[in-house]
Amino acid sequence: MCGIIGYIGTEEASPILCQGLKNLEYRGYDSVGMATVSGGLEIRKGVGKIDDLRCRLNFEEIPGHIGIGHTRWATHGTVSFENAHPHADCTKKIAIIHNGIIENSDRLREALLKRGHEFAGDTDSEVIAHLIEDRLNGFPGQRGAGDGEPGTGSFDNGFFETACLDAFRLLRGSYAILAIKEGEDKIVGIRKDSPLVLGLADHGTFFASDVSPFLEWTKKVVYLQNYDFVVADGKGVKFYNLLQGEVSRPVDTVEWSMEEASRGKFEHFMLKEISEQADTIQRALQQDGDVIERIVDEVKKGFGVFFVGCGSSYHACLTGTYLLSKVAGVHVNAVLASEFENYEHFLTEDTLVFAVSQSGETADVLDAVKAARRKKSKIIGITNVMGSSLSREGDELMMMNAGPEICVLSTKTYTSQAMLMALMAYALCDKHEECVQKAKDLYMDVYNLTSKSMRVRLKDLAKELVHKEHIYMIGRGLQYTTALEAALKIKEVSYIHTEAFAGGELKHGPLALVEKGTPVFVFVSRDNEDRIVANAQEVKARGGYVIGVSDWNHRVFDRWIKVPECGDLNPIIQAIPMQILAYELAVQRGLDPDKPRNLAKSVTVL
Ligand code: F6R
Repeated sequence: MCGIIGYIGTEEASPILCQGLKNLEYRGYDSVGMATVSGGLEIRKGVGKIDDLRCRLNFEEIPGHIGIGHTRWATHGTVSFENAHPHADCTKKIAIIHNGIIENSDRLREALLKRGHEFAGDTDSEVIAHLIEDRLNGFPGQRGAGDGEPGTGSFDNGFFETACLDAFRLLRGSYAILAIKEGEDKIVGIRKDSPLVLGLADHGTFFASDVSPFLEWTKKVVYLQNYDFVVADGKGVKFYNLLQGEVSRPVDTVEWSMEEASRGKFEHFMLKEISEQADTIQRALQQDGDVIERIVDEVKKGFGVFFVGCGSSYHACLTGTYLLSKVAGVHVNAVLASEFENYEHFLTEDTLVFAVSQSGETADVLDAVKAARRKKSKIIGITNVMGSSLSREGDELMMMNAGPEICVLSTKTYTSQAMLMALMAYALCDKHEECVQKAKDLYMDVYNLTSKSMRVRLKDLAKELVHKEHIYMIGRGLQYTTALEAALKIKEVSYIHTEAFAGGELKHGPLALVEKGTPVFVFVSRDNEDRIVANAQEVKARGGYVIGVSDWNHRVFDRWIKVPECGDLNPIIQAIPMQILAYELAVQRGLDPDKPRNLAKSVTVL
């Protein structure tokens, strides 16, 4: 959940690292730090965001052509100077940065303490620097503990690499690690279950958690695989795999542009990404016809189908279950990835598991994929990030094609996922073309919904709601899943407590929460209007303030958000004004919509 970057080349490293860390900030932003080698090793770090620390610590003035940088999302250890990365060994000659969780860190730390090592903080990561130091001092270490233990051969290209390799073999858990050392003109890296990508530019080599920090310099990338161990020096890059020995890795070209990954004229990435949806929804339809056909076949003959995801991706899964049931009469199960272990015993070789994840790196989703792999079930990955772990894990792959999503909240990728669900539902009953046409007809509607005039109207509504403590949302069928997604958007970015309920459930409990003036959003579609309007009446009768989201203004509404009626595609259309409202609420409450507190974009811990 942290962002890591490294650079070695002919340019000064620190300005590159600063810029890169800014692009990686969406992965974590409670503390930040950098280390460079220029003869000696220099580390600067602190609590805060990159923009605050950049000036305070003169980041850009640290000399050296070799450097590593880290932006943190705390897991082990509080947010403090000591726990910020990079971490050093006792001699302050080695610096490491790490993204992931070292599961056996307590045991390793204990052993290191017994041998006299001194630790500055409480993170699991700090053991890595001390383990490397230990290996350099010739200490063989305790074997048989780490994930990388069954390694073959050794890397006999120098003491530092060998020490790193030996140290990394002792780690258990998930990790993307970069290490540098005083007097060594190289960066050493490794990954397992946490992302690490290389960027190959004319003037040097980049390491990063994703491609966004180096898109300005190169589009040539190498996506590292689990247990890949890499050494980059002035002459090039060497690849080694802990389990396979020496390996070579192909060079790919990234399709995302620098412009897509920058904010442009928009105040925030969230607003930019919301306004891209007229295009991104269309791009979700650009799927390989053969792949769709194969998936349809598999679903038809599959013995059990699961849609698995977290957060907004889970809401897209749930939308998918309603769509496949309604449009194609096909039953599928939507399961929260973190709860999937409870369903594992249903998996067989004939089961299909759709793993849905924007980032393709969500640990809970990858864990579900592992479970499916163990049971030899078919896996279909749906992701937005080419090169992500999920993009390489599936038997089939559908890309969302939404371009980089930098804001921590999912907006455009949620609607792309919902579009893909609709596409599958229609393809299952041979109506693929009909779906494509419906989506094309949506273009202007989405364009209008993301226009300035819509934003002005929602800004107005936000002014009314900005000081509310609670907001509730109701819907039925596809409008229920939309309500769930809308509630998640508002709560995570504005911190206003927002909950969604199925309309029919109100009277079974939640109605007790409604009092005079309680705002309740009601999502309506033409095919269930009577029942949901009846639920809205129940709210109104208790003094609730009813805000309708529909294509007509019913007299039960106190406020009305006008959206076109789009039938099966309503979940896409109705989500958009809610994204804008969530954005406006955050801005009016003085919050940064791109970086809500306590959250990170890529949740790579279980
Ligand atoms: C909500 C949000 C999160 C993600 C969730 C899954 O706006 O962004 O709830 O949807 O963390 O992330 P991915 O899709 O990357 O697996």
